[in-house]
Amino acid sequence: MTAATTFPLAFSATPSQSARAEAEREAILADPGFGKHFTDHMVQVTWTLDEGWHDAEVVPYGPITLDPAASVLHYGQEIFEGLKVYRHADGSIWSFRPEANALRLQRSAERMALPSLPTEDFLESLRQLLAFDKAWVPSAPETSLYIRPFMIASESFLGVRAAQKVDYRVIASPAGAYFHGGVRPVSIWLSTDYSRAGRGGTGAAKTGGNYAASLLPQAEAYRNGCDQVLFLDSVEQKYLEELGGMNIFLVRHDGTLITPALSGSILEGITRESIIRLAKDRGHAVEERPVTLDEWREGVASGEISESFACGTAAVITPIGALKGPDFAIGDVSAPAGALTMSLREELTDIQYGRKPDRHGWLTRLG
Ligand SMILES: Cc1ncc(COP(=O)(O)O)c(C=O)c1O
Repeated sequence: MTAATTFPLAFSATPSQSARAEAEREAILADPGFGKHFTDHMVQVTWTLDEGWHDAEVVPYGPITLDPAASVLHYGQEIFEGLKVYRHADGSIWSFRPEANALRLQRSAERMALPSLPTEDFLESLRQLLAFDKAWVPSAPETSLYIRPFMIASESFLGVRAAQKVDYRVIASPAGAYFHGGVRPVSIWLSTDYSRAGRGGTGAAKTGGNYAASLLPQAEAYRNGCDQVLFLDSVEQKYLEELGGMNIFLVRHDGTLITPALSGSILEGITRESIIRLAKDRGHAVEERPVTLDEWREGVASGEISESFACGTAAVITPIGALKGPDFAIGDVSAPAGALTMSLREELTDIQYGRKPDRHGWLTRLG
């Protein structure tokens, strides 16, 4: 069926005949882990050069059929988003700044020569999926439903050019508490052999290739006993950029927050921007500027830098306990997490879970 392009998109729905029974769903929600289980439905919308966005549907969750020549399989023309849906104490369901994810998907689309999905259609795709799968939003503390919208080049064509057929999908996966037994500082491995992104590259886009490029250095981090990998700028190998999947902040002893400026090769994190807002609201100075590795190392040694943390949707705020490189190690993962780090984490999660007023209008009700 081909429906003519309408704005906003009109969705049709085919409810799943094999939706999990309540008992099975509850057993999964009791210990969901991360990214292992998926809800009963998914959203799909097709784009073609001739017709634009059309055929918007909610369908049963299941495999995607792709022609072996689909260009995403060869040239990696794809983008994605990641956001969470939270259940509040009264049972209502909310997402955090989803329009910011819509705008980032549009920026990623532009860089990767994919079509732009209007914000209203992005938000409607979330509403539509949640209309069927809201029972999958867990209610235990610090749990959520992780939503993964993505777009792939599905045209069967081996020429290297932007695809003329693209699929947008949304899937969802219940997520358990990131930290079991309390927030734990992580250790960071400094990658000196590999870069995540270069000048003029795709670092600011949320596209699979950036993550593929981070897997080998991430494995190096694990081999060296670290949890996460930190990348420096690819030109001078001197400035902090970000971790494989999180932005980074340092805290000066006077309470100033310091974070690498958006250089074009860093992903513009929504958590990052929210933390900057909350810190400024409290009267903290926030410096967004180039930050050198030496500044961090020397600052920790002199006591000038008192805390550091990573941030992103998955873990919200993760205290950094130690930084290790091929020839140095600073910090100690067994030291307690910084006080400002923990209080910003608490404030942000309190807003997300509806425990504190949403004074910036960051929450959107989805059910
Ligand atoms: C490379 C990278 N940097 C930063 C972030 C943090 O972004 P956000 O706070 O929007 O989740 C993510 C996670 O999406 C990421 O993958």
